[in-house]
Amino acid sequence: MLKVLELFAGIGACSKALENLGIEHEIVDAVEIDKYAIKSFNAIHGTNFEPQDIKEWNKDIKCDLIMHGSPCQDFSIAGKQAGGDEGSGTRSSLMYETLRIVEKLKPTYVIWENVKNILSSRHVHNWDAYAEYMEELGYTNHCQILNAKDYGIPQNRERVFTISIKDYYDKDFNCLLARDFQFPAKIKLKKKLKDFLEINVDEKYYLNKEKLDMISNWQCYEKPLNHIKTDEGIMGTITTRSGAECGGMKVIAIKTANKQGYDLASNGDGIDLSYPNSQTRRGRVGHSISKTITTSDFQGVMDNYRVRKLTPRECFRLMGFDDSDFNKASEVCSNAQLYKQAGNSIVVNVLEAILNELLK
Ligand SMILES: C[S@@+](CC[C@H](N)C(=O)[O-])C[C@H]1O[C@@H](n2cnc3c(N)ncnc32)[C@H](O)[C@@H]1O
Repeated sequence: MLKVLELFAGIGACSKALENLGIEHEIVDAVEIDKYAIKSFNAIHGTNFEPQDIKEWNKDIKCDLIMHGSPCQDFSIAGKQAGGDEGSGTRSSLMYETLRIVEKLKPTYVIWENVKNILSSRHVHNWDAYAEYMEELGYTNHCQILNAKDYGIPQNRERVFTISIKDYYDKDFNCLLARDFQFPAKIKLKKKLKDFLEINVDEKYYLNKEKLDMISNWQCYEKPLNHIKTDEGIMGTITTRSGAECGGMKVIAIKTANKQGYDLASNGDGIDLSYPNSQTRRGRVGHSISKTITTSDFQGVMDNYRVRKLTPRECFRLMGFDDSDFNKASEVCSNAQLYKQAGNSIVVNVLEAILNELLK
């Protein structure tokens, strides 16, 4: 049976992926400091772990696989970019705690997930330091950026996956050799964001006129918007606000820092509602897919010709969790915690694709 140690465990996307794949496994420990996240973890996976600080964690435990999605705030372009240098005390520098634990436990596989920006010129020295240390410990690293939309989930979420596999001793060659690993092939996206939406959504999730005014570029309706293409076909020319301001509109022009000043969203499109006054934010509309789920209620959708926030249940669905998982987590956590846990997690389907290749 595969023994799994989840570090920075969150709600346990790795355990969920193993469960979905039907791989017999035991979660030997889940190291997670946040008392609400570990409550959800326990509720979803039927475990009974206590909150633990990785800095103090030093158990002697046997494990075959370590999964760690170490904190990414200080590498993320959305954050202050404090970085993750060893000894800096930033949350992102906690990735070095994993190295300490790998050195001690020497599992066969280590999967590390983080934001794409860790490979930027500003932060890549931390990725290099991690990879070099893993090599010194006798692992071969494989690294690739994977997007959840290429693995069956209509969410644009790019993340760096680093898979480290312990080299093995080959008797015939009398030396250490690397095991084979290929990242999983992309699959065509068949589902749309609308397939992940709830049917009856509480009115509180809908944007009122004031909020709608903040995200929309109304001026653009003064000139004709020609031949707008939506999922329902070409809609001809639109010259007015086309309907009431918070209901019944066919398209909405979302303020974006591009040349024309807006992107058009139609029914079923994902909308990034964060920082409405930003002068630099681009790509706010995802056609039939969600923008990246974050730790707040910042992601929206045009649903039934109105703009609203995604619900926490929809965010869990877009991270690859089932409604039954969400139901269990929602019994022990508030909506604010559930948004945070979804935004912090890893898309289960991406991990399933990786684990399928790794463990086959
Ligand atoms: C990016 S999330 C990882 C989520 C997880 N991979 C999942 O499947 O949901 C990082 C997690 O690290 C946790 N964390 C931060 N500092 C920690 C520490 N000192 N010890 C243990 N966990 C910590 C955070 O609470 C957060 O849940």
